[in-house]
Amino acid sequence: MSIPTPHIEVKEKGIIAKTVLMPGDPLRAKFIAENFLEDVTQFNRVRGMNGYTGTYMGRKISVMGSGMGMPSIGIYSYELFSFYDVEQIVRIGSCGAYSQALDVYDVILAKDAWSESSFAHTLAGYTEDVMLPSAALNSRIEAIANNLEIPIHTARVHSSDVFYRKHFHDFETIRDAHGCDVVEMESFALFANARFLNKQAACILTVSDSLVKDAVTTSAEREKSFTSMMKIALELAE
Ligand code: HPA
Repeated sequence: MSIPTPHIEVKEKGIIAKTVLMPGDPLRAKFIAENFLEDVTQFNRVRGMNGYTGTYMGRKISVMGSGMGMPSIGIYSYELFSFYDVEQIVRIGSCGAYSQALDVYDVILAKDAWSESSFAHTLAGYTEDVMLPSAALNSRIEAIANNLEIPIHTARVHSSDVFYRKHFHDFETIRDAHGCDVVEMESFALFANARFLNKQAACILTVSDSLVKDAVTTSAEREKSFTSMMKIALELAE
């Protein structure tokens, strides 16, 4: 396939940076472009899945929505990696905590992603139920967080295919059988695509809710943890 792709409209490869940050929400991508980047150009509007390239401290970086769930991030990350020569994609999202040890607003680095999904098998015949991020990217992210003195917790992510489950409270079974610390819906597919296409991927999350303890949240706290995650991710600009 050539560019433009069915889902990304920009006609030149060089407009998208080698590093793309992917929040789930395309309006989040817009917010990041408007508030954190300079010299911004918008490279995608198809289906409202906004994508932007700009600079952060003079270094080039792109940000684009992934949508929710593995089929959605699967499509966008595949097209960015395969047809636009993107080298690294870092998902920047939110997750629910399965563990008492994690609090809302904690910043999480995915050490791997477990899933019941058939995505990796359908993509490439992979039979493992755990997909890995790039070790090199993860070390860079840990070093950046360390430098910025932002605490970051490494965790096993459950990439779930279903948000509203019949047995919603059965998450304990998955948590205990597979050692998952948090739940979201995208990382497993992103890591599988990166493995298949020989590219790099990582995932940074903020805890937006806890399945094991009550938490009262404020918009100021939400903003602070989002900004911490963004400061780390934006340092990956080249
Ligand atoms: N489940 C799935 N994905 C999520 C959750 C959740 O509880 N919280 C944030 N993303």
